[in-house]
Amino acid sequence: MAEARSDLTSRVLPATTLCFASSLAPRPLELHNHHANSNPPIECFRVSGVGIIAGGAGDLGAAFSRALFEHGLQNLTILDAPSEETAEPIISRLSSDFPLAKITFTRVDVADSGAVEKAVDAVVQTLGPITILANFVGVVCCEHAVQHSLHSWRRAFETNNTGSFAVAQAVARTVVTTKKGGSIILVASISGTRVNFPNHQVEYNASKAAVIMMKSYLAVGWGA
Ligand SMILES: NC(=O)c1ccc[n+]([C@@H]2O[C@H](COP(=O)([O-])OP(=O)(O)OC[C@H]3O[C@@H](n4cnc5c(N)ncnc54)[C@H](O)[C@@H]3O)[C@@H](O)[C@H]2O)c1
Repeated sequence: MAEARSDLTSRVLPATTLCFASSLAPRPLELHNHHANSNPPIECFRVSGVGIIAGGAGDLGAAFSRALFEHGLQNLTILDAPSEETAEPIISRLSSDFPLAKITFTRVDVADSGAVEKAVDAVVQTLGPITILANFVGVVCCEHAVQHSLHSWRRAFETNNTGSFAVAQAVARTVVTTKKGGSIILVASISGTRVNFPNHQVEYNASKAAVIMMKSYLAVGWGA
């Protein structure tokens, strides 16, 4: 039965917990008197375990890999399409900046779900349970919608959507098996919610919009 409108002012709203109480507790002494070598804000964002960065040989994926190492990650695998020689400079730069970290590379087409599953299983075997997946793989083609080829359209959806789902699913399956929990980040784009006119990229916008909904669906379905 609907509440009387006047009752709404005394209604108790359901509480939402966004993180553990211990991580929300104020730590004024630590923040104000911290040792010169410690860095509490960084500690709050410390990451550990094993990471997979799909598209890690690209610009944003490589920067994200670096950020994970800066925040404490020790084991990371890059899954990407180009050859090992192309990815090599990125891996050697990371290896020399983070000598204690273990970094591996596997060449894989994310739209090939069998190959993705094999690569992800190999990571668990060699590095351990996966704690974080970030998928940066994405392609765009610039063609006017009137002339847009279905080949480019299908390539964008195969890579940006089927690929995103394939890596997310492969990692989720290992997380179910290892029972360790984990985080999955799917990179979309502002183009998934806005038309960046005059960029001619209808397939990119549509595919990134789908990534955004996939993220929402999986967050509810797998997070529950
Ligand atoms: N750069 C931007 O301004 C921007 C803005 C918004 C969103 N994004 C998104 O962020 C992500 C990364 O962007 P970026 O600028 O680093 O792009 P990038 O082209 O530098 O990196 C993309 C990576 O994906 C890889 N890749 C492409 N197809 C693949 C496939 N089938 N299998 C495996 N790997 C494949 C490429 O080899 C490349 O290393 C993309 O998803 C992009 O759509 C980028």
